[in-house]
Amino acid sequence: MSRKILVTSALPYANGSIHLGHLVEYIQTDIWVRFQKMQKDTIVYYVCADDTHGTPIMLRAEKEGITPEALIDAVHKEHASDFKDFLVEFDNYYSTNSEENRALSCEIYQKLKVNGKIATKTIEQFYDPVKNMFLPDRFIKGECPKCHAKDQYGDACEVCGATYNPTELINAYSAVSGAAPVRKETEHFFFELGKCEKFLKDWTTGNLTDIPPLQPEAANKMQEWFASGLNDWDISRDAPYFGFEIPDAPGKYFYVWLDAPIGYMASFKKLCEMQGLDFDEYWAKDSKAELYHFIGKDILYFHALFWPATLEYSGYRTPTQIFAHGFLTVNGEKMSKSRGTFITARSYLDHIKNPEYLRYYYAAKLNGSMEDIDLNLEDFVARVNSDLVGKYINIASRTAGFITKQFGGELRWDSMKPLIDGALAQGLLIEESYRDRNYSKALRDIMEIADRINGEIAAKEPWNLAKDENKKAALHDICSAAMHGFYVVSILLQPVLPALVCRVARDLFGMKRDFQWDDLGVLPTSINAYQHLITRIDTKQIEAMTEANKENLQATATPQQHSEQRHAVHQQNEVHAEATEAEYISIDDFTKVDLRIAKIINAEHVEGADKLLKLTLDIGEEKPRQVFAGIKSAYDPETLKGRLTVMVANLVPRKMKFGMSEGMVLAASDEQGGPFILSPDSGAQPGMRVK
Ligand code: MSP
Ligand code: ZN
Repeated sequence: MSRKILVTSALPYANGSIHLGHLVEYIQTDIWVRFQKMQKDTIVYYVCADDTHGTPIMLRAEKEGITPEALIDAVHKEHASDFKDFLVEFDNYYSTNSEENRALSCEIYQKLKVNGKIATKTIEQFYDPVKNMFLPDRFIKGECPKCHAKDQYGDACEVCGATYNPTELINAYSAVSGAAPVRKETEHFFFELGKCEKFLKDWTTGNLTDIPPLQPEAANKMQEWFASGLNDWDISRDAPYFGFEIPDAPGKYFYVWLDAPIGYMASFKKLCEMQGLDFDEYWAKDSKAELYHFIGKDILYFHALFWPATLEYSGYRTPTQIFAHGFLTVNGEKMSKSRGTFITARSYLDHIKNPEYLRYYYAAKLNGSMEDIDLNLEDFVARVNSDLVGKYINIASRTAGFITKQFGGELRWDSMKPLIDGALAQGLLIEESYRDRNYSKALRDIMEIADRINGEIAAKEPWNLAKDENKKAALHDICSAAMHGFYVVSILLQPVLPALVCRVARDLFGMKRDFQWDDLGVLPTSINAYQHLITRIDTKQIEAMTEANKENLQATATPQQHSEQRHAVHQQNEVHAEATEAEYISIDDFTKVDLRIAKIINAEHVEGADKLLKLTLDIGEEKPRQVFAGIKSAYDPETLKGRLTVMVANLVPRKMKFGMSEGMVLAASDEQGGPFILSPDSGAQPGMRVK
């Protein structure tokens, strides 16, 4: 019986262009899907869609003076053509704003309700009295309560990295109308995740299945989340909202993250309709098919907690595995508009033209873990030129001509048995690497084969053999062996370089179809004339691309897709990062900051503050300093007592709701973790200056 596999990539938001960061995921998935499709007795479908609902999309459409439907239609076309041009081949690329998705979302919600997993609660939220709408955190701005930077978003400060509630912002205003938001009560629907804890623990630890559904790093992350407790998940939003209205609840809509993953099912449902497939075979509780979701690490919470719980309690099967990948950096840093490294898919194509260079480079970097991957533009050029042109294509360009010109295209067969056996053995090893998404290892092993072949060619020097009539047999031998090697390497590279290898298969080896994995065991007997296959990248193309993407620093950022989950702020931060890039400061600027070693003599909770701890700090002055620090999420006050840290001692004292804050302690944090307060090495004394 055939294996049946359904694969998805996360659904990109319909309010922005596909960029090189997104492509890490779609390329990673596409390679895996193409690899699986090459295997015999394996039926694979790969579906995706645009994620079209939510406040940012609604507001962006309004700003552009079009309907949300018109906006998402236009973006759908753009996304679909970007994916196509990067050779990302979906079996269906759909939209979450579809009738299939509406029906499935309503049905799943009803089942969750019947199963006693939906609660209603009255909550208080910020409301824009001018625009008459509730405001997601990302649409409230104001002064950071910690460093007092202006115009910070409601969930995190991009200048000092503090995270807080929008209620803590100073002089908060609505990013939509500019009005001061008011607090207003409203009834929301909640998915009671706490009630699913036992199931989720069993599921995430792999107790329910043969294969653990999560990577080890993701499973660890889960343990942290379990330890901090599962909160009920707010799944409704009030009108005006672009999304699906909740059945029997006029004016209430499903929060975008409820219907987004259901969009995986809806896209597949549509595919079933188009191709006459059986939906239940893939989604019913007792399904024998395999279901894999490729995602970025920022949306793990949604996929490893909300999603399996949603499926389990609405009577569907749960995912076989969730594969999370890390984030893309360019030249070691977050993509940045000012450095010209915030590069859209289209801009890459305009300048570099060939999508397979990027596919190759990403593959060479991806190892199946959640580590971030870096696109170093210099290394990109070097790698592509040396591996693809210098190693792979070189094999054919140096030997194919002799075969067609001197031997009528016939390959010599004498000693092929060891070569075939070798290829099959290598194939098995590489197969395993692809299966584990360890493409970097696969490519290392493939390039090693290419190195060996090139070594043989260099040793035999066919160009010299060709000058001697008596050495024709030797010439035929080495060129045949090289072409057989080229054939094997091409098959192994097909998942990564589908267009290039397609030309190799058809034009050079005269195949009527793309390669299958099993073709490794059937070496060709002849070839057609070699035609030029690829060209080197020129560094100038890279320079032109980054130049074209450099944007004026003054450009103001607009709020992107909202998410209440701290775990999902990565993407927004990346979009806004350019607004806060530091310019150089002089040494004088630096010495203006009075940094001192401080001893925490007392630390305590502050009543009514969600994020703050009150610290009493000895900095060698007569009177200790009182500082409110946003570190409550990470520290038990008891463990801080007696510890040394570093504080800014000459910050203007600030009157806060809870009292005066007379300075600031230094702590590190980013989307992945923190805050981590800094400590000096042992020996430092309270009051010492840090210079
Ligand atoms: N719409 C949600 C996903 C819903 S899935 C039911 C979303 N969209 S997104 O457009 O922000 O991101 C789509 C995918 O691209 C996510 O898996 C995300 O992790 C990934 N990436 C977005 N930016 C990225 C990088 N800079 N680097 C690597 N992957 C990135 O999240
Ligand atoms: Zn701040």
